[in-house]
Formats: sequence, C-alpha cells, structure tokens
Amino acid sequence: VSERPLALVTGASSGIGKEFARLLARGEVLAPHDLILVARDRARLEEVAEAASKAGVRAQVMVADLADEAGLEAVASRLASRDDSPVDLLINNAGFGVNGSFADLSQAEVVNQIRVNALAVAVLSHAALQQMKARRTGAILNVSSVAGFFPAPHSAVYAATKAFVTELTESVSIEARDFGVYVGCLAPGFTRTDFQRRAGVPTRSIPSILWAEAQSVARAGLLAVKTGRTLEVPGVPYKAAVVGGRVVPPPVLRWAARIVTERL
Ligand SMILES: NC(=O)c1ccc[n+]([C@@H]2O[C@H](COP(=O)([O-])OP(=O)(O)OC[C@H]3O[C@@H](n4cnc5c(N)ncnc54)[C@H](OP(=O)(O)O)[C@@H]3O)[C@@H](O)[C@H]2O)c1
Repeated sequence: VSERPLALVTGASSGIGKEFARLLARGEVLAPHDLILVARDRARLEEVAEAASKAGVRAQVMVADLADEAGLEAVASRLASRDDSPVDLLINNAGFGVNGSFADLSQAEVVNQIRVNALAVAVLSHAALQQMKARRTGAILNVSSVAGFFPAPHSAVYAATKAFVTELTESVSIEARDFGVYVGCLAPGFTRTDFQRRAGVPTRSIPSILWAEAQSVARAGLLAVKTGRTLEVPGVPYKAAVVGGRVVPPPVLRWAARIVTERL
C-alpha cells in the first residue's frame, strides 16, 4: 500500500491536465501524488502514466468518456468508493469548446459540452465530496475559464458551462470549509494546448501577452490548492479583466464582447 496521497485528474491526456499529472508525480508545488488519469484516449493516457511512473509514483489509467452516462458513472463510483483507497485530490479538468453561433451548433454539440464541462464536474465533485466529508479531509479543484465571467458570442454554451463551474465551486467551497475540505476553482485565459484547435477558435489575432503555457497554469492551480485560495485567475491581464468585468455595466460588456468577437 502506498503512503502517498492519491489524485484523480480528468482530461489528463493532454494540455493542462497532462501538466497537472506531471507536477503531481514529481512533487512540485504539492507533495508527490499517486495518480488516476481519466480521459478517452488510452494511448495518450498511458504515455502520461509512464512518465509519472518514471518519476516514482503509481499511475493508473481510467479510460472514460465523460459525455457518456456509463463513463461518468464509472468515475463517480471510483470517487465515492469506500473500499478502494480514497481519492485525496480531485481535479475536474476535462473540458472542450465548440466555436460557432449557438443556432448553428448541432444538438449533440450543445448537449455534450454541458455534459462534460458542467454535469460531469457537478457529479464528480458530489461523489468525491461525500467521501471527503466523511473523512474530513480532501481537496477538489475545478477548472473553469475566464470565458465564464463574460458574454461570449460564438462560445455561448462553453462560457455558460464555465460560469456554472465557477458558481458551483464558490458556493460549495463555503460549505466544505466547515468540514475541512478545500474546494476551489482555476479560471485560466488563453492557454497553449490543443483546446483552440479542437474548438475551431481562430487564434491569429490574439496578442501574445494574453497566452499562457499549460505548465504555468497548472502550477497556479496547484498553488491555489496549497494555499487554500478559492478562485485563481492566472495572469495579470485576466485578473484585471475579471475584477473590471464586475463593475462594468452589462450593456457595455455585451458591446465589448461583440467588438472582440468580430476581430477574432
Ligand atoms: N486552453 C485554453 O485556452 C483554456 C482556457 C480556459 C480554460 N480551459 C479549460 O482547461 C481545461 C483543459 O483544457 P486544455 O486547454 O488542456 O485542452 P486540451 O489539451 O484539449 O485537453 C482537454 C482534455 O479534456 C479531455 N476530454 C475532452 N472531452 C472529454 C470527454 N468527453 N471525456 C473525457 N475527457 C475528455 C481530453 O481528453 P481525450 O480527448 O483523451 O478524452 C483532454 O485530456 C478544460 O476544462 C478547458 O475548458 C482551457
């Protein structure tokens, strides 16, 4: 039996999730963690697991499609399990976007974004929190997005799912503090991963100052867990945008959102 704490990371096959796995395996920011790595792409997950094993921790691959009811249930049961070794840290990182006008998305694109980005985060947080509440220890980090703070034409469903994640996390964090469990939210801005290519988001006109590396974003998330910060928005421009967005009147935000979208 391993003495190390155990982390379950969703979306660990790529981008920010892969960096979470790497940092946790190497014991950077937090102590070294054994890992359960969740995503759909087995081959990519196995590569991440192999790298983690080389760093000296145990890493297990769990292939699951979080848009699928059975896939979600399998991960939720593992998190809720009282027989297997309990998960100490859950990182709900899996997510995707589909660029396009809401009316032009297929029904599956609408529904699957909600399933993976919002429903899975709620169900998995709930499963983990019950077990953590009973043990009065544990941590949950949910990855939302700066997009969730603003109107986002052409990413309406995506932004709405991320707003859901941020709000859910904010509320649950207050409840969970009473039983000694950390619940927090990492809300990144543009990060260099597969995300934009998969979403079909045009990126040519996004200035380089707005881009972050996946590793520094993951590091900021783990630092939030370590220090108990409930909402972490990495990068000065995005911190300023989120604070500014709270005082700017909604009609001005909608006007700005239209201008930004036209320029992308
Ligand atoms: N990159 C950005 O600019 C940015 C900005 C703000 C927030 N975020 C958020 O950061 C998180 C990580 O994204 P990323 O940038 O690292 O993008 P990414 O490189 O595309 O990684 C997304 C991860 O989610 C997994 N995933 C997607 N659909 C899934 C499904 N149905 N079931 C299980 N796993 C699924 C993918 O694995 P498989 O394909 O193997 O299933 C992959 O591991 C997401 O929640 C995203 O919304 C990203």
